[in-house]
Amino acid sequence: TVSKVHRIASIPGDGIGVDITVAAERVLHVLAKTVGGFEFDFTTFDWSSEKYRERGWYMPPDGIDQLKKFDAIYFGAVGSPDVPDHISLWSLILPIRKSLNQYVNVRPTRILPGTTSPLSALSTTSSHLDWVMIRENSEGEYSGQGGTSHSDTSYAVATEVSIFTYVGVSRIMRYAFETARSRPRKKLTMVTKSNAQRHGMVLWDKIFYEIAAEYPDVETDKMLVDAMTVRMVLHPESLDTIVATNLHADILSDLAAALSGSIGIAPSSNLDPTRENPSMFEPIHGSAPDIAGKGIANPVGAFWSAAEMVRWVGEGSAADMLMQAVENVTAAGVKTKDLGGDKNTEEVTTAVCEEIELRF
Ligand code: NAI
Ligand code: MG
Repeated sequence: TVSKVHRIASIPGDGIGVDITVAAERVLHVLAKTVGGFEFDFTTFDWSSEKYRERGWYMPPDGIDQLKKFDAIYFGAVGSPDVPDHISLWSLILPIRKSLNQYVNVRPTRILPGTTSPLSALSTTSSHLDWVMIRENSEGEYSGQGGTSHSDTSYAVATEVSIFTYVGVSRIMRYAFETARSRPRKKLTMVTKSNAQRHGMVLWDKIFYEIAAEYPDVETDKMLVDAMTVRMVLHPESLDTIVATNLHADILSDLAAALSGSIGIAPSSNLDPTRENPSMFEPIHGSAPDIAGKGIANPVGAFWSAAEMVRWVGEGSAADMLMQAVENVTAAGVKTKDLGGDKNTEEVTTAVCEEIELRF
């Protein structure tokens, strides 16, 4: 029988990005072998801060064209204490997201079996916290517009301009409504700051209500971003699908991850819904220099991101199996230190591989 080959560009990057990418590839090979009918062909790109220090570049000039040849991209993390973060981010991850039109960033949050939320004092259980945050991933506060005059003097002036376009806002709102509609509660909360920011954020709100008219079956509400942090902590059960700008969702999704137990479990999908370009899958955490090289990074966010990639390339039932295996492993108490366990990256990875092989 002929097996379908999914060609994946793998960019491990820096720090724990390398550990968790190795772990994710291992699990994906076991998944493909166990399920059958498809396989993964990984091509690894050594684009990292270490190589930047050696060669002076993160991505070669034709880097984006190279990535376009793949079915999907798996990304670890980028960032190193000896390269300014705005250089590493703007040389690798941000150009990929922008050039490949990955304008949607999907960030789900759940409390996995056998893990606890810091909100447990409020008797939070997994059914009380089940969110999907839809982050605008191409413009807004991270559009890159702005400049600096008189730098390195006491007259320095710097601007950082947020860009909100009709096209950019309406496509993310439509994606968010579609996501809300596909979930049982059909509920979408829009995050804004249009009380203080009276141009871009007002357009953001206006387009939200325009598109809402096309989705009468989706319940909507609106939250100012500051009040949203309070609601996420005090009334997590009142939220389901959330749409927010590039900056707001960046911050709120880290809060969401912490409320679910650890930033180490949180996945993220950078999608080009038109499918003209490959989409990119990565855990939301960074390179974690404080634990890099110790072999103790939690690989669950990497596995969950890998499962979303598997789903995106068309292997939905294999994706469900992978997530079930991860949940069985957390439920059995096989966890890294950030989740209160005592296992290392390799032990959790082995447990997930064995779970896939044994159960399926
Ligand atoms: P971080 O996410 O790397 O780490 C924050 C804290 O969470 C640290 O204490 C870390 O040990 C812990 N942590 C993160 N992932 C973990 C995991 N899988 N298992 C266990 N513990 C985990 O964020 P930080 O420290 O702000 O940034 C470090 C570097 O990463 C910076 O250079 C930053 O620019 C970069 N970064 C890159 C991102 C990307 O590549 N998409 C995203 C966020 C940060
Ligand atoms: Mg972030």
